[in-house]
Amino acid sequence: MSEIVIADKKFSLLLTSEKIQQQIELIAELMNDDLKNHEVIFIGILNGAFMFAADLLKRIQFNAQVSFVKVSSYQGLESGAKIKRLIGIDEELKGKTVVILEDIIDTGRTIEDIIQQIKGYRPEQIRIASLLLKHEIFRSSLTIDYVGFKIPNRFVIGYGLDYLGYGRNLRNIYVIEDTD
Ligand code: IMP
Ligand code: MG
Repeated sequence: MSEIVIADKKFSLLLTSEKIQQQIELIAELMNDDLKNHEVIFIGILNGAFMFAADLLKRIQFNAQVSFVKVSSYQGLESGAKIKRLIGIDEELKGKTVVILEDIIDTGRTIEDIIQQIKGYRPEQIRIASLLLKHEIFRSSLTIDYVGFKIPNRFVIGYGLDYLGYGRNLRNIYVIEDTD
């Protein structure tokens, strides 16, 4: 399928499933090398990272724990700013290497909030892996240790990413078409 329609929007093919799998293989090879001597827990950020996490973790060859968390976004009472809270951390993170698995990093605000909260659990170190990075608008000083693809600042769906809750099940990644 080279074009997808969801509600009022059209999307065209950006990254094929084959390309995505190749890139994930490379990330897994790097991790197998970098992290094999550490006590690792992978933490996937739901919902978007479920496919990336599943395909990556099948290729990880050392013993590691796997968990998933959700980021709940709610309006702060005082500031009016959106506060993002991590829910679902049940495992001990203290002294471990935490590898965050994200589907996409845009401005970097979400990942900054996540890292801030993970630090509170006193891990030995935190690594960040994101399948996609919108590098043109990324505004953070954080290092993204593992990046699958740098993509333009356009809205994308597929392979975990959604528009209005749809599109997560697609095996390819699609980019929104210009409307004008
Ligand atoms: P950030 O806080 O600006 O880095 O935004 C990151 C979050 O916004 C991601 O975790 C996604 O949930 C969402 N997001 C950003 N860009 C896209 C996109 O192109 N498609 C779908 N979701 C996106
Ligand atoms: Mg997300």
